[in-house]
Amino acid sequence: MRVSEKAFVAVAKLEEVPQGGKKVVEVNGISVILVGARDRVFAVRNLCSHAYETLECGRVRAGWISCPVHGARFDLETGKPMNPPASMPIDTYEVRITGDVIEVAV
Ligand code: FES
Repeated sequence: MRVSEKAFVAVAKLEEVPQGGKKVVEVNGISVILVGARDRVFAVRNLCSHAYETLECGRVRAGWISCPVHGARFDLETGKPMNPPASMPIDTYEVRITGDVIEVAV
């Protein structure tokens, strides 16, 4: 059986997402936040799993992003909620760096 390769899409330059910074991009009609943290780039869906508000104005600290509406924090690696009121994970996406370009598989 052939394993199909994920389709990575170029979304930004590496310099656009510094450590501690974030950038919202759209991939295949889905709003995605790129976050520079822990010496790498994470990609998560720009949608809180609690009341479906956008996360783009949320605070970013070491390894997590918080929802600006009710304060739930999500692990950038796994998408898992770290505190209430969220109980479901947010979507996370694989990131690949090719040269100075950030690519995401959504
Ligand atoms: S909408 Fe994000 S915690 Fe409620």
